[in-house]
Amino acid sequence: MYRRRRRIREPAHASPNPQRIRMSTSGNQNASRGAPSRQIYSPPVAFKTALGSSIIGEAEHVLKRPKYKKDLEHKVDLIFTSPPFPLNKRKKYGNKQGEEYVKWLVGFASLFRTLLKPKGSIVLELGNAWEHGLPVMSTLALEALLEFRKKGDFFLCQQFVWHNPARLPSPAQWVNVERIRVKDSYTHLWWMASTDRPHADNRQVLKKYSDSMEKLLVRRSYNNGKRPSEHNIGKKSFLKNNAGAIPSNMITLANTQSNSSYLNYCRANDLQPHPARMPMGLAEFFIKFLTEPGMLVLDPFAGSNTTGAAAEALGRRWFSIEPTEDYVQGSKGRFPKAQ
Ligand SMILES: C[S@@+](CC[C@H](N)C(=O)[O-])C[C@H]1O[C@@H](n2cnc3c(N)ncnc32)[C@H](O)[C@@H]1O
Repeated sequence: MYRRRRRIREPAHASPNPQRIRMSTSGNQNASRGAPSRQIYSPPVAFKTALGSSIIGEAEHVLKRPKYKKDLEHKVDLIFTSPPFPLNKRKKYGNKQGEEYVKWLVGFASLFRTLLKPKGSIVLELGNAWEHGLPVMSTLALEALLEFRKKGDFFLCQQFVWHNPARLPSPAQWVNVERIRVKDSYTHLWWMASTDRPHADNRQVLKKYSDSMEKLLVRRSYNNGKRPSEHNIGKKSFLKNNAGAIPSNMITLANTQSNSSYLNYCRANDLQPHPARMPMGLAEFFIKFLTEPGMLVLDPFAGSNTTGAAAEALGRRWFSIEPTEDYVQGSKGRFPKAQ
């Protein structure tokens, strides 16, 4: 049986002193209001690795602490994150609703802009949401995205779709019971930047050629000329071996990886695993595409810290923030050498 998750809320006036009051051992969330029954003290850095730091707290507070501001301002190459979705039922990790959600997300736009390097990027993964009790989709995530872009004065560099073919049918009532909708199986990733030319290189994310393309490259016979789309395909350019195919902005990845070392670690330490982990391949794709080794990747809503783990594996520096203690402790399982 997993214990109840404990969410660490930092008071708005939190002092930069790392030895801050964190919580009561009884799980009393009044700690932030200064009335815990028994207090324990803990530094805000949950753990460190050779390349990164995992911080416990809410992003809106952690990122305003003078120490982190100094470490991060104008130094971040990529903010890759999946903020809590605007769910209609308050659940799991206290997602905000309605206008409150839009206001909360938009509140990060200017802050993120100050953290980015001039050629840095932001990639926000936003899932679909449905109106409560209705077979109707909510436009809240889109409204939040548009407001966020406007407030931060960001360019929308490209939109991506992550298609998860293994996604279970949902929303269950409309898909499985009444059979009046089809299954919702993708999320959007919005790539934004302060410039129209952020650092990016699609040669870092080439896909393996298809079998038929491999054969064409060997055979070198190809019907060049105009396609039905009016595109004129030149034999010379088409048959050039570029060591892989340029990927599209639709990323198909089944989220079926067992994450066994992560899950085993959570089980062994009686920690609640994160219920909405993204596949490692998704984080790897954007980290490779938009950064180089040694660059800095920030995930302000880190969950199980898939982003940090992908960054570490790819030799990038990383900084992650998550307020729920079990998720942070569990994410240590992704870093065998964490201190
Ligand atoms: C969609 S999940 C991220 C999942 C993550 N990408 C992964 O692969 O595990 C969003 C996370 O944001 C966290 N969160 C919610 N409010 C937050 C806040 N104010 N600051 C930082 N994180 C927050 C939630 O606890 C949740 O773990």
